[in-house]
Amino acid sequence: MTINSSTIKKVLIRVDYNVPIQNDQILDLTRIKASIPTINYFLKQETKIILMSHLGRPNGIQKQFSLKKLVPIIESLLGLDVFFVPEITNKTNSLIDSSTHRVILLENLRFYIEEKTNDLKFSKILSSLGHIYVNDAFGVSHRNHASVSSITKFFKNKKYKGFLLESEIKTLKNLKEAPRHPYTIVVGGSKIGSKIHILKNFLNIADNILIGGGMAFPFIKYNGGQIGRSICSESELSVVESFLKQANKSNTKIILPIDCIVTDDITQKTNQRAVDIRLIPEGYFGVDIGPKTVQFFCRRIKGSKLIVWNGPMGISEIKDFSNGSKKISESIIKETKKGAYSVIGGGDTISDISRFGFKNQFSYISTGGGAMLEFFKNEDLPGTKGLRLIR
Ligand code: 3PG
Repeated sequence: MTINSSTIKKVLIRVDYNVPIQNDQILDLTRIKASIPTINYFLKQETKIILMSHLGRPNGIQKQFSLKKLVPIIESLLGLDVFFVPEITNKTNSLIDSSTHRVILLENLRFYIEEKTNDLKFSKILSSLGHIYVNDAFGVSHRNHASVSSITKFFKNKKYKGFLLESEIKTLKNLKEAPRHPYTIVVGGSKIGSKIHILKNFLNIADNILIGGGMAFPFIKYNGGQIGRSICSESELSVVESFLKQANKSNTKIILPIDCIVTDDITQKTNQRAVDIRLIPEGYFGVDIGPKTVQFFCRRIKGSKLIVWNGPMGISEIKDFSNGSKKISESIIKETKKGAYSVIGGGDTISDISRFGFKNQFSYISTGGGAMLEFFKNEDLPGTKGLRLIR
C-alpha cells in the first residue's frame, strides 16, 4: 500500500529492535512482533509511520549493526513495503515526505554518538520527523538516550506510550507491588557494568540473587579467583566491591557459581572441561556454568514463589555452551508448574528459551532485560515519564 500525500500525519515510533543476531541470522523475532499492534493501530489511522531503533552497541558506523537487514521481516509481518533511510540528517524529513511508503525505518540510532549522549540537537532532528511521538521500546526505556529521553521535550501533549510499553508497565507494576517469597533473581549475560548497578535495587527485596554467565567473573576475580581469559574489566571490580559491601549488610543472599565449563578456543570449542571457577587455567575462557553450579542454583530456585531471570548462564547461542541456561530454564519451568510466578526478560534470554522450545512455559515474558530489572526499583524510567496512553 502506498500514498501520495506529503501532508499526511507522521507518527514517530521508538521501537526496540535490538534483536539477537548470529552470523547475520536473526535468532528471535519477539521484540519485532511485540511492536506490531502499535504500528497497526496507527496504520489504521491513515498515518505514515517512522520507526526508529538501536541495534547492539556499535562504535560509530559499523555495517554489521545496520537495521537494513530487518526490512524484509518487518515487511512480511506488516504486509507492506518498508522504506529504509540509511542516514539521519537535516534532509531526512524531506526524504520521508517525498516517499510514498506508509512505513519508514531509520538506520541504527546508535551510529550517532549523540543518541547515547542524549543530545538535544540530535533529538530535535529526530522530533522533526513526526507530528506525534510514541515510545514502544520498553527494553531501552531505562536509558537516558536522545530517542527515548530528550526527544520528549519536543512533543508537548503529543507523546504516548505504545501498547507494548503500556502492557509491560502494567504487568511489572502488579508484580512489584505484591512480590511473593521466596523471591529469587537469576542474572547472567555480559552487560556486567550496568547490571551490577541495577542489582543493588533488589537487596532486601529479593531473598536470593544467583549470578551466572559473564556477570560472575568480576565477582570471582574480586574474591581472589583466577579467571583466565574470561570477560572482566578492571573497572568492574570496584563496582563489585561496593555492591558486596551493601549486600553483606542486607538479608539477600548473593550466590555465585562454583564451577564452570572452559575452553581454550571459543570458536573451535577445543579442550572443554569443567573446572573450579576460581581456578580457570591461563589461556582458557569460562563459557558456561558447570554441572555443580547447575545443581547448586537449581536447589535455590526450588521452592521459590517468584523467579525473575535475565541473562544467559553462558555463551548459550553456541550449543556446546548452552547447557547451563537450558537446565536453569527447566528448573524455573518446574517451579512454575508448581505455582511459582516466573518472569523472563531480555533479548538473549528470550532467544534461549525459544531455541530450547520452552517459550510458552513461563508466567510472563518481558521484552526488557536491564529495563525490566530497573523498573522493579524505579518505575519512573527516563523513557516512560510524561507519556500519555494512546486510548
Ligand atoms: C536490551 O537489549 O536490553 C535493550 O535493547 C537495551 O540495550 P542496551 O543495554 O545496549 O542499552
